[in-house]
Amino acid sequence: MWTLITGAGSGIGRALALELSNQGHDLILSGRTVSKLEDVAGEVSKHSPQCKVITLIADFSDPTSTRNLANQVRNAVDQLSAFVYCAGVGEPAADFASLDLIDFQEALAVNVSAPMLLTQSLLPVLTGHDPAARIVMIGAGMDTQAQPGTGSYGVSKMALRRLVQQLSVEFGTMPQGPVISLFQPGLVDTPGIRHHVDKAAGLGLPHAQWLRDRLDNGECLTAEQAASALAFTLSQQTPESDFQGAVYNGRDLVDSLSFAGS
Ligand SMILES: NC(=O)c1ccc[n+]([C@@H]2O[C@H](COP(=O)([O-])OP(=O)(O)OC[C@H]3O[C@@H](n4cnc5c(N)ncnc54)[C@H](OP(=O)(O)O)[C@@H]3O)[C@@H](O)[C@H]2O)c1
Repeated sequence: MWTLITGAGSGIGRALALELSNQGHDLILSGRTVSKLEDVAGEVSKHSPQCKVITLIADFSDPTSTRNLANQVRNAVDQLSAFVYCAGVGEPAADFASLDLIDFQEALAVNVSAPMLLTQSLLPVLTGHDPAARIVMIGAGMDTQAQPGTGSYGVSKMALRRLVQQLSVEFGTMPQGPVISLFQPGLVDTPGIRHHVDKAAGLGLPHAQWLRDRLDNGECLTAEQAASALAFTLSQQTPESDFQGAVYNGRDLVDSLSFAGS
């Protein structure tokens, strides 16, 4: 049971790798930074020695690198039971006048074009399975809540939401096609959000202090909580028919799972 996780070197992707290795998945971990990926692979092997782990480097701002990753995955495994696209970027800008086209294009490349291209290139290992292969894309609440300075991130995540809708319709017409959903984590304490808050605070953006207060007061999920909610959506406890086109809310899932477990 092979699962591909992108953005596996940090934050939610890293925590998901550790969670799924505990649950018997074999893992293909992809990321941009070799040292971070090796660190996660080492942790996985230490805690789950039976887990097979492959690490593959890719830069999703570059379509050639994204295609290379897909080729390497197809050469490594006959089928993927799950694919979770956790990589994401979105640099804040001081205001609209200073929104950098490079940052805007990078967000669209990493958050929209690469998940589209990777999913398309991986279709041979994502189709023809029973149960269906499950794909999860990670969205963000800023897709519908515009804040000053968050155009690159918010616009790209809105496009990602629409991509998931599109793919769920397309997959519905494929015999033994995969199923896909969007996971909205809510606020999760990760290196990525801490980087965003520091940068946004430096630019004087109003949402930075609000986010920092919530992070410092623990009014957020841990990466491990978000990962366990995400892993639940990948399990057969979530029926396939519910999964296709679903939008899962991380906080709601964590609350309902802890309620069910109490
Ligand atoms: N944390 C939150 O509160 C929150 C809220 C809503 C949505 N999200 C979403 O959740 C996902 C995970 O975020 P996180 O908070 O865990 O952030 P994170 O700690 O920064 O992790 C993001 C990952 O994306 C990878 N990445 C970035 N650009 C890449 C590129 N060009 N090519 C390949 N990989 C790239 C990073 O690789 P490197 O480590 O090598 O740089 C990193 O592993 C993202 O999609 C984010 O938008 C997070």
